[in-house]
Amino acid sequence: MKPNSILYLLLHLLVLSFCLAADHGPSSIVFTTNGRLDYYFDIFTLPIGHPPHPTTETRITDAQSVNFNGHFPSSTFFPNQTRIRSPTRPDPSLQIIYVTERNGFSNIYYDAVYFDSPSSIRKRSALEVVDRVQVPLLGLDGVSMKDKPSLTGEYLVYVSTHEDSGVPRTSSAAVYSTELNSGLTRRLTPYGVADFSPAVSPSGVWTAAASYGPKGWDGDVEELSTDIYVFLTRDGTRRVKVVEHGGWPSWVDESTIYFHRRGEDQWWSIYRAILPRGGPISTESVVVERVTPPGLHAFTPATSPGNHDFIAVATRRPTTSFRHVELFDLVKGEFKELTRLVAPRTHHYNPFISPDSSRVGYHKCRGNANGKKSPKLFLQNIHSSIPNLSVLRIDGTFPSFSPAGDRIAFANLPGIYVVNRDGSNRRQVYPGKAFSTTWDPVRKGVIYTGAGPEFAPESAEVDIISIDVDQIAFKKLTTNGKNNAFPSPSPDGKRIVFRSGLSGHKNLYIMDAEEGETLGLQRLTEGPWTDTMCNWSPDGDWIAFASDRENPGSGSFELYVIHPNGTGLRKVIQSGSGGRTNHPWFSPDGKSLVFTSDYGGISAEPISNPHHYQPYGEIFTVKLDGSDVTRLTQNSFEDGTPVWVPSFIRPSDVEWPIDRPSCSFDDLHCLSDFPSHGGVGAVPWLLSKPQCGA
Ligand SMILES: *[C@@H]1O[C@H](CO)[C@@H](O)[C@H](O)[C@H]1NC(C)=O
Ligand SMILES: *[C@@H]1O[C@H](CO)[C@@H](O)[C@H](O)[C@H]1NC(C)=O
Ligand SMILES: *[C@@H]1O[C@H](CO)[C@@H](O)[C@H](O)[C@H]1NC(C)=O
Repeated sequence: MKPNSILYLLLHLLVLSFCLAADHGPSSIVFTTNGRLDYYFDIFTLPIGHPPHPTTETRITDAQSVNFNGHFPSSTFFPNQTRIRSPTRPDPSLQIIYVTERNGFSNIYYDAVYFDSPSSIRKRSALEVVDRVQVPLLGLDGVSMKDKPSLTGEYLVYVSTHEDSGVPRTSSAAVYSTELNSGLTRRLTPYGVADFSPAVSPSGVWTAAASYGPKGWDGDVEELSTDIYVFLTRDGTRRVKVVEHGGWPSWVDESTIYFHRRGEDQWWSIYRAILPRGGPISTESVVVERVTPPGLHAFTPATSPGNHDFIAVATRRPTTSFRHVELFDLVKGEFKELTRLVAPRTHHYNPFISPDSSRVGYHKCRGNANGKKSPKLFLQNIHSSIPNLSVLRIDGTFPSFSPAGDRIAFANLPGIYVVNRDGSNRRQVYPGKAFSTTWDPVRKGVIYTGAGPEFAPESAEVDIISIDVDQIAFKKLTTNGKNNAFPSPSPDGKRIVFRSGLSGHKNLYIMDAEEGETLGLQRLTEGPWTDTMCNWSPDGDWIAFASDRENPGSGSFELYVIHPNGTGLRKVIQSGSGGRTNHPWFSPDGKSLVFTSDYGGISAEPISNPHHYQPYGEIFTVKLDGSDVTRLTQNSFEDGTPVWVPSFIRPSDVEWPIDRPSCSFDDLHCLSDFPSHGGVGAVPWLLSKPQCGA
């Protein structure tokens, strides 16, 4: 770590502690997460050695919240060494630890589950969990992501993001171990480094992880350029790089690690690393062999201790657009399909094998649990560590609240919707393509939006329109026929600031809120770059916006403020070099901004998740002078389009009666690209190079 970054870290920690103590009037931040409210993940299992069939698949977790990234621990004791007993039954059929997002934060739970005994199954289609003992393994120490757990003896080993890296655009994902009896938590990853996807060796002595090393994140959103490091589980010492370019390690024995990498032929494949027994370990002394052939993508390998016969993997075959779990026979070199034979049109993620090699587990959408559809959440409470601030995830993009706080407008492509704050009376108020929404502060029931395609060039026609949501009448305010978007009204409701591609570049303009462009335009910013996503402060003095003016066209955006009269331009925050800070929105007191950013880097290997265009998107706040950068969300999903509301919304989940297919999200897009060369099942018509990691 450079002395510079140490200084930064110290400053940052200071600033962070001040911020958490700062006085906030009651307010709420509401934001969107790509796909998250449609996931409904649960952990399922199939027996190995029986023909896979829907009647042999069992849901292990309890259909509450989302449950994912499971692991079968090897002992039949509670982590505190108490023998497991349900009040009514002897030893559990199965034990599992997994990540759950119930109660508004990420935690790791332990469940001992009891199946029906086989004789009582009779006509029931699948084994059912009839009894369950459930224990949260970690408490709530602020909001952070807890992921990829393994349990070894008394120690829970997992990734957490709770210690801010202190360096913009740098991941805070690090491996920790918590001694479950004492609660003592120890960081195993050195400061200045990010580690993902840890796996503990069968003896518990060693942990392997996919690491960025000090070189940091290069901005990739599909294949992270990680290396595999091994270190002592006890304290993180004796850390050594064993594989250059690899991720998602899994141990078979103390000297054999399986992992994935995208090979030179562009297929994701499983590889094996054999570490020297005794003697110094280094990348030179490790033997790496490719295990799975080209012709399909194979990734996120799982092993069972001592089992050299097969591994489990997730695959994407050119013949299906779904991710499935398969076994790979290491002796015969053959795949054996599992989940495609059970649920062909569902994605299955991140397999794991039981210590006795009798079961494979994975997560997927639960579908109907016990014959019931899972409720759809309109608002989801995200635990907030800041007094007087509630943080909620909403089912809809670009939310905005009416001045009275009783109604919410949002976009749900295509179309703009308005709904009461309790989720009732949802109706479409504009049927076409449109994105950001904002309410007129004075004229009741009037909202503004940019109507037309998103992410379109300067010359594409996007118009600022106002919509009277009670009369369902709209009025076009721009007449220039170019790309006009992100309207934000002044607090007196008389003017609107927006961005326009009028001059050939997207810059900011101000116009009359009722009559629009016909009464003329005031140009606010000018230059051969993009100024966009503007928001007018509640006191009327400032307009905040995102701009790529430091490096036009690079995709890098900083946040600025400017007075409406064009003076006082000032940069508020930038995320590293080449980073993104987008969608600023003023706090009710006008002293801070909420925004979305890659300030916290990426928190998990993207291939272990459904597709997110920007898996680094997290919600942050910052003071207008650039101080007090505070991260509000901690997950591996894409969080964006926040709004800061001047009232405290009760931090609890709100359901709504919406009927939309669940789980229709995309798999990682680069997995749909199959190399045109090399192997069985290659797709000759696909001439373009795959995008993963390119
Ligand atoms: C919460 O808001 C109230 C009302 O503005 C204020 O009196 C109180 O000091 C705030 N509490 C904290 C801990 O910021
Ligand atoms: C161990 O954990 C279980 C489950 O939380 C609890 O019921 C039991 O009392 C604990 N035993 C001890 C000795 O702490
Ligand atoms: C511009 O506006 C700001 C506040 O909105 C004000 O403080 C400043 O004096 C104005 N400058 C000019 C030149 O009008």
